[in-house]
This record gives sequence, structure tokens and C-alpha cells, in this order.
Amino acid sequence: MLGMFDSGLGGLSVLREIRKREPHEKLLYLADHAHCPYGTRTLVEIRSFAMQITRWLCSEGAKLIAVACNTASAAALHSLRETFPSTPFIGMEPAVKPAVVNTTTGTVGVLATEATIKGKLFGELLDRFAEDATVLTQACPGLVELVEKEDYDSSQARSLLRRYAQPLLDLGADTLVLGCTHYSFLKTELQEMVGPNINIIDPAPAVADQVSRVLTEKNLRSKSELEQSDNLIVVCTTDLSHATHLSRQAQSLLGEPVHLRAVELD
Ligand code: DGL
Repeated sequence: MLGMFDSGLGGLSVLREIRKREPHEKLLYLADHAHCPYGTRTLVEIRSFAMQITRWLCSEGAKLIAVACNTASAAALHSLRETFPSTPFIGMEPAVKPAVVNTTTGTVGVLATEATIKGKLFGELLDRFAEDATVLTQACPGLVELVEKEDYDSSQARSLLRRYAQPLLDLGADTLVLGCTHYSFLKTELQEMVGPNINIIDPAPAVADQVSRVLTEKNLRSKSELEQSDNLIVVCTTDLSHATHLSRQAQSLLGEPVHLRAVELD
């Protein structure tokens, strides 16, 4: 089974892409609602959540883990790979590379959480592309909470999106990178607001492609009928009050039934 996690339902945007590519794999998704949002927490705190979740996913039999969260990847990916050397991890980082390759103005904007922007991974990414383009960053507190409430279209949602995107456009950005998996759910509203000439990059498809590549390279794809017959999507939350909401969102996104589980991590 493939394990995945995020602070909440943002990573479902990645789950949907993985499901399209790997319909025969069982998927176990954990939303750490008890600690959501991650983006305003310290990197040390986020790392400890990521460690705990990974231990749990491994104990459930995950053969690969997709960290469907930019913030957890920024805080913990190095440590996870060190601590669990036999588990392949697919992490996420803001898609600066394709943005830099495709910009025509030479300026791109990255929307992400505060913790992602503070992390070493992102600093290294900026250094790599600093000579090729101007990369502007914008922390977006409040957007994750809107997505968790499924509030994509209210005046509050629009005004927050405008507040975060407009300064980047004013400085010449023609490309916006969604550097948090929750923001994928706001892509339509953001595109409407900024107009068709601004390219918005959502990394979920690229991350799912990488999952497929690793499954092939490591020969991890389920083979036997027996393995494939248990072909379920299980979504779990660490806070029961989010359970109904999570399974409804997952089912409507995927267009198929999912199993729901509440999980208490110690
Ligand atoms: N969806 C996550 C990300 O990709 C975490 C957002 C949060 O909890 O602040 O960064």
C-alpha cells in the first residue's frame, strides 16, 4: 500500500493524481487535522509530527510514502530519509524550476506557508535559480483554514487571494507557483482573479508522476491478484470532528467510495 500524509485535506489534490496513474494500488492517506495548520508552527514541531505519522504509516505496511505537503517536506524530508532508510519517500517542493523555465517576464511568484518559506529546502531552491529569474515569495496565512472550511468563493477568500497575489503581479510576475497542496483547491478562483495570461503551476501531477517512476524503478507495483483485490482508498484523520468532511471531500474529488478511519497517534 502507498502511504500519504498532509496536515489536512490539501494532499487530496495529490491523492487524486496518484489514483489516476495507479488505479491498482491501495492508498492510505492520513490528514493530521489535530495539528492543522502546519504552516505557522516551528520546523521542529512539524518534524516531530512527520516522524510520528511515518512510524504509523510504516506500521500499517506502507511500501512508499508520499509527503503530500510542502511544509512537512521542508521541515522533515531529510530527517525522514535518514531515519527510515528502507522506505522510499516522495517529497514536495514549490515548483520553481518549471516556473523559471516558462516565465517570459523573468519574474515568478511563489505562494506558500510561512514554514515552507523559512525552511532550508526552499532556501536551497531559491539559490539554484537565483541567476535565471527573479523569484518572489509570499506567505499566505489564512488560506489553509479557508480550504479546510471549503470556503473558496466568499468575499473573505477573494480578498485574501487578492492580497497575496496582487503584489506579485505588480512586481511583474507572469507565473504563480502553488507551493502548498491546499492551494490547489483555490486554483480556479485564483485563475479567474489574475486572468488567463498568468500561468499558475500546481505541482500535484508532477509529484504523482514521480511516485509512478519510483514504483517502476524499485519494482514496487502490486502484482498479484490477491494484492490488487484489496484495492481500497482509506482516508484517516487525527481529529474525529473532521471525519465526515474529509471523506465527503475525498469521495467527491475521486468519484469513488473511500473508507474512513480515525487514528490516534501517540
Ligand atoms: N498542505 C500543506 C502544504 O503543502 C500544509 C499547509 C498547512 O497546514 O499549513 O504546505
